[in-house]
Amino acid sequence: MAEETSASIYDFPKYYDLLFGSDWKAEFHFLEACFAKHAECKVKRIFEPACGTGRLLIKLAQAGYEVAGNDLNPKAVAFCNKRFARYGLPETAVVQDMSDFKVRRKFDAAFNMINTFRHLPSEETAAAHLRCMAAAMNKGGIYVLGIHLEPTACLAMQEEGWSARRGNLVVNSYMWSKGIDRKNRMEHLGLHVDVFTPSKRLRIVDHMEYRTYQKSQFLSLVKKVPELEIVETYDFSYEIDQPIRVSAATEDVVYILRKKKN
Ligand SMILES: C[S@@+](CC[C@H](N)C(=O)[O-])C[C@H]1O[C@@H](n2cnc3c(N)ncnc32)[C@H](O)[C@@H]1O
Repeated sequence: MAEETSASIYDFPKYYDLLFGSDWKAEFHFLEACFAKHAECKVKRIFEPACGTGRLLIKLAQAGYEVAGNDLNPKAVAFCNKRFARYGLPETAVVQDMSDFKVRRKFDAAFNMINTFRHLPSEETAAAHLRCMAAAMNKGGIYVLGIHLEPTACLAMQEEGWSARRGNLVVNSYMWSKGIDRKNRMEHLGLHVDVFTPSKRLRIVDHMEYRTYQKSQFLSLVKKVPELEIVETYDFSYEIDQPIRVSAATEDVVYILRKKKN
């Protein structure tokens, strides 16, 4: 019989990092291509709001960038810093709210790839986040922001699954939409994470809330932060030579926001 616990997957950084960290290459190469194509400053310093375990920050740091991040979850931040330390890198992840923070030295680029922005529960917190990001970036710097929009011309995707293995540790996950509260623009999601080792079977039963965005709602949010402009759009295939035009049927979008020079 599997043991079952109701908990947040973010409280299990080792399992989270295995599930989502093994698939880093496409995002890493896409980010570097975005820095080269869209930033109007040389990208040396990179920030990730809600960095979690820092699965991408560690790769960027190893490639020679100065990196830092923040996250609400102290366990994720500890995991991230421990890995930095293991590779002789400064421990630059901090516990902070991504809608209420300041940085001491500005960054040239930032990223937030997999829908994490939608954890911000309201228009106010989302706008506050974009204002913090604008303040944290040098002029000409970019913020690469990946989200799932709610399509208005077709049904949104209802479920997703991931699976990963390292040695004897296997982690499978299944996420499904439980429905959208349209009045409050909140999508309720279920998540099961099944962990297998030779001596243990554990099911983590999680529940998440994601704020919904239709294309027009995202555009009107960005307009509230006049320091930022959208300079290009891609999808989650991360093809730098294939920007997309966001339509009423588009679901996954990577927005490239740039801090205006004046
Ligand atoms: C899907 S994970 C993404 C982690 C990392 N960005 C990645 O790509 O693997 C979402 C993260 O957002 C964090 N988070 C949620 N709300 C936050 C907030 N208001 N401020 C900072 N972090 C937040 C969670 O603790 C979690 O680590």
